[in-house]
Amino acid sequence: MRIPNDAPIGVIDSGVGGLTVVKEMLQFLPAETIIYIGDDARCPYGPRSVEEVKEFTMEMATALAEMGVKMLVVACNTATAVTLDILREQLPFPVLGVIEPGARAAAHVSTTGKIAVLGTVGTIKSKAYEYAISAISTDADIIPLACPEFVPLVESGQYKQMNIQHIMKRSLQPIAHLEFDTAILGCTHYPLLHDQIQEQLPVGVNIVSSAYETVRDVENTLSGLDLANISGERKAPIFYTTGQLEVFESIAIDWLGIRSPDVRHIVLGKPGCQ
Ligand code: DGL
Repeated sequence: MRIPNDAPIGVIDSGVGGLTVVKEMLQFLPAETIIYIGDDARCPYGPRSVEEVKEFTMEMATALAEMGVKMLVVACNTATAVTLDILREQLPFPVLGVIEPGARAAAHVSTTGKIAVLGTVGTIKSKAYEYAISAISTDADIIPLACPEFVPLVESGQYKQMNIQHIMKRSLQPIAHLEFDTAILGCTHYPLLHDQIQEQLPVGVNIVSSAYETVRDVENTLSGLDLANISGERKAPIFYTTGQLEVFESIAIDWLGIRSPDVRHIVLGKPGCQ
């Protein structure tokens, strides 16, 4: 049976990072309803094994499939890097990731082809950005850097504090002396640290994230498959978290500017594995 056009779009992340993609979706896809799952209780995914990331991502995708979504946006680079193909094989609706859009955005703005990729340990290890960029531009020179200290700053709500600059500086030190004209925020949590990252990078470096390009992909897929919501009825987004409601809610209010977001608790997976 065909999924109705007014069905919601599912969005998943290991935590609050995918809200950076939701922010663009709310702006550019005003007709669509969003259901979000953030696995904050098991965040970060970055240091986890490929098997765990696959298992947890599949749990979120299955929960959304049961809620009747018409499309899934994997708004997590770590999960995109290791699960996109499997999700596409197993789910009966389109599944979009964030790495190809981020690679495209960077290849578009870089004039020297020297591109730094900031991401989680899992994303950097997977070399997913190297593969995606080389498919677009053969002479790109990628400088990968894992920044494992960034995600906890965002998840704990400390991302706005000025006293985290020493952590930013220490994390970005390994590439401070290198030449590149573009840096990809290759983790959906990092746009919440955009200003602090910019402050530590050489002047003139373009900072790109995948959110805007991902939403272009969502839009094209909706229109290509005749899935756009044309009913004129859009419901408020629903946010599920496996973690603490208050923390999620305050970040959603701050980042999305929604006065009272509908944040609910969800339990995923087997008991004892959180
Ligand atoms: N937001 C995620 C990403 O884009 C993952 C962060 C994490 O859980 O380590 O990679």
